[in-house]
Amino acid sequence: MKILVIHGPNLNLLGARESDIYGIKTLDEINDSLNSLAEELGVELAIHQSNHEGEIVEIIQHSGKCSALLINPAAYTHTSVAIRDAIAAVDIPAVEIHLSNIYKREEFRHTSLISPVASGQVAGFGPDSYLLGLRAAVIVANAKKSAS
Ligand code: DQA
Repeated sequence: MKILVIHGPNLNLLGARESDIYGIKTLDEINDSLNSLAEELGVELAIHQSNHEGEIVEIIQHSGKCSALLINPAAYTHTSVAIRDAIAAVDIPAVEIHLSNIYKREEFRHTSLISPVASGQVAGFGPDSYLLGLRAAVIVANAKKSAS
Protein backbone atom coordinates (compact mmCIF):
# COMPACT_ATOMS: atom_id res chain seq x y z
CA MET A 1 0.00 0.00 0.00
CA LYS A 2 1.30 3.45 -0.97
CA ILE A 3 0.43 6.66 0.89
CA LEU A 4 0.94 10.05 -0.75
CA VAL A 5 2.32 12.69 1.65
CA ILE A 6 2.11 16.37 0.69
CA HIS A 7 3.73 19.19 2.65
CA GLY A 8 2.44 22.62 1.60
CA PRO A 9 4.06 26.06 1.41
CA ASN A 10 6.79 27.17 3.82
CA LEU A 11 7.04 23.75 5.44
CA ASN A 12 10.47 23.38 3.79
CA LEU A 13 11.54 26.01 6.38
CA LEU A 14 10.56 23.93 9.41
CA GLY A 15 13.19 24.03 12.12
CA ALA A 16 14.06 27.64 11.28
CA ARG A 17 10.53 28.98 10.85
CA GLU A 18 8.62 30.32 13.91
CA SER A 19 10.03 27.51 16.06
CA ASP A 20 7.94 28.66 19.04
CA ILE A 21 4.87 27.58 17.04
CA TYR A 22 6.15 24.82 14.77
CA GLY A 23 9.02 23.35 16.81
CA ILE A 24 12.65 22.74 15.97
CA LYS A 25 12.39 19.60 13.86
CA THR A 26 13.29 20.06 10.21
CA LEU A 27 11.18 18.68 7.38
CA ASP A 28 13.88 16.07 6.67
CA GLU A 29 13.67 14.88 10.29
CA ILE A 30 9.87 14.68 10.08
CA ASN A 31 10.16 12.73 6.83
CA ASP A 32 12.66 10.36 8.45
CA SER A 33 10.26 9.60 11.30
CA LEU A 34 7.40 9.18 8.81
CA ASN A 35 9.50 6.69 6.82
CA SER A 36 10.36 4.75 9.99
CA LEU A 37 6.70 4.51 10.98
CA ALA A 38 5.75 3.56 7.41
CA GLU A 39 8.23 0.69 7.55
CA GLU A 40 6.74 -0.44 10.86
CA LEU A 41 3.22 -0.29 9.39
CA GLY A 42 4.30 -2.02 6.19
CA VAL A 43 3.36 0.83 3.84
CA GLU A 44 5.27 2.81 1.25
CA LEU A 45 5.36 6.63 1.13
CA ALA A 46 5.58 9.07 -1.78
CA ILE A 47 6.59 12.36 -0.18
CA HIS A 48 6.36 15.81 -1.84
CA GLN A 49 6.78 19.39 -0.64
CA SER A 50 5.64 22.34 -2.73
CA ASN A 51 5.22 26.07 -2.28
CA HIS A 52 2.95 26.23 -5.35
CA GLU A 53 -0.80 25.70 -5.34
CA GLY A 54 -1.00 24.47 -8.95
CA GLU A 55 1.81 21.98 -8.40
CA ILE A 56 0.00 20.56 -5.36
CA VAL A 57 -3.17 20.25 -7.47
CA GLU A 58 -1.20 18.31 -10.11
CA ILE A 59 0.39 15.99 -7.54
CA ILE A 60 -3.09 15.19 -6.20
CA GLN A 61 -4.44 14.64 -9.73
CA HIS A 62 -1.67 12.08 -10.35
CA SER A 63 -2.22 10.22 -7.08
CA GLY A 64 -3.92 7.30 -8.86
CA LYS A 65 -1.78 4.49 -7.47
CA CYS A 66 -1.97 5.74 -3.85
CA SER A 67 -4.43 4.39 -1.30
CA ALA A 68 -4.63 7.54 0.85
CA LEU A 69 -3.40 11.11 0.99
CA LEU A 70 -1.76 12.65 4.08
CA ILE A 71 -1.65 16.41 3.58
CA ASN A 72 -0.54 19.45 5.52
CA PRO A 73 -1.87 22.14 3.16
CA ALA A 74 -0.26 24.84 5.38
CA ALA A 75 -1.53 28.34 4.46
CA TYR A 76 -3.53 26.91 1.53
CA THR A 77 -5.76 25.24 4.14
CA HIS A 78 -7.49 28.57 4.59
CA THR A 79 -7.61 29.78 0.98
CA SER A 80 -7.43 27.05 -1.63
CA VAL A 81 -10.64 26.03 -3.39
CA ALA A 82 -8.36 24.47 -6.07
CA ILE A 83 -6.72 22.03 -3.63
CA ARG A 84 -10.09 21.28 -2.04
CA ASP A 85 -11.57 20.50 -5.47
CA ALA A 86 -8.58 18.32 -6.43
CA ILE A 87 -9.04 16.20 -3.30
CA ALA A 88 -12.77 15.92 -4.01
CA ALA A 89 -12.05 14.92 -7.61
CA VAL A 90 -9.81 11.94 -6.84
CA ASP A 91 -11.16 8.78 -5.32
CA ILE A 92 -8.71 8.45 -2.43
CA PRO A 93 -9.33 9.23 1.24
CA ALA A 94 -7.45 12.24 2.65
CA VAL A 95 -6.21 13.00 6.16
CA GLU A 96 -5.51 16.67 6.87
CA ILE A 97 -2.82 17.46 9.40
CA HIS A 98 -1.41 20.55 11.11
CA LEU A 99 1.52 20.89 13.48
CA SER A 100 -0.22 23.65 15.41
CA ASN A 101 -3.74 23.72 16.80
CA ILE A 102 -5.18 26.07 14.18
CA TYR A 103 -8.33 26.64 16.31
CA LYS A 104 -6.25 28.20 19.09
CA ARG A 105 -4.62 30.70 16.75
CA GLU A 106 -5.67 33.74 14.68
CA GLU A 107 -9.29 33.68 13.53
CA PHE A 108 -8.39 33.36 9.82
CA ARG A 109 -6.83 29.98 10.63
CA HIS A 110 -10.05 28.64 12.16
CA THR A 111 -11.54 27.89 8.76
CA SER A 112 -10.27 24.95 6.74
CA LEU A 113 -11.51 24.64 3.17
CA ILE A 114 -9.95 21.17 3.15
CA SER A 115 -11.73 19.56 6.14
CA PRO A 116 -15.08 19.06 4.34
CA VAL A 117 -13.36 16.82 1.78
CA ALA A 118 -11.06 15.03 4.23
CA SER A 119 -11.80 11.85 6.17
CA GLY A 120 -10.54 13.64 9.26
CA GLN A 121 -8.04 16.09 10.70
CA VAL A 122 -5.19 15.92 13.23
CA ALA A 123 -3.93 19.25 14.59
CA GLY A 124 -1.90 20.53 17.50
CA PHE A 125 0.59 17.76 18.25
CA GLY A 126 3.65 19.22 16.52
CA PRO A 127 5.58 16.69 14.40
CA ASP A 128 3.57 13.89 16.07
CA SER A 129 0.53 15.16 14.12
CA TYR A 130 2.19 13.62 11.06
CA LEU A 131 2.68 10.26 12.77
CA LEU A 132 -0.89 10.18 14.10
CA GLY A 133 -2.07 11.27 10.65
CA LEU A 134 -0.15 8.45 8.95
CA ARG A 135 -1.78 5.89 11.26
CA ALA A 136 -5.17 7.44 10.40
CA ALA A 137 -4.38 7.37 6.67
CA VAL A 138 -3.62 3.63 6.85
CA ILE A 139 -6.88 3.05 8.77
CA VAL A 140 -9.01 4.92 6.20
CA ALA A 141 -7.19 3.27 3.28
CA ASN A 142 -7.82 -0.20 4.75
CA ALA A 143 -11.47 0.67 5.44
CA LYS A 144 -11.94 1.75 1.82
CA LYS A 145 -10.22 -1.42 0.57
CA SER A 146 -12.44 -3.71 2.61
CA ALA A 147 -15.59 -1.79 1.58
CA SER A 148 -14.83 -2.27 -2.13
C1 DQA B 1 -0.02 24.88 9.56
C2 DQA B 1 -1.04 25.91 10.05
C3 DQA B 1 -1.33 26.93 8.97
O1 DQA B 1 -2.27 27.89 9.44
C4 DQA B 1 -0.06 27.66 8.58
O2 DQA B 1 -0.32 28.56 7.52
C5 DQA B 1 1.05 26.75 8.25
C6 DQA B 1 1.25 25.53 9.02
C7 DQA B 1 0.40 23.89 10.67
O3 DQA B 1 0.96 22.86 10.34
O4 DQA B 1 0.19 24.17 11.86
O5 DQA B 1 1.88 27.05 7.39
O6 DQA B 1 -0.62 24.10 8.52
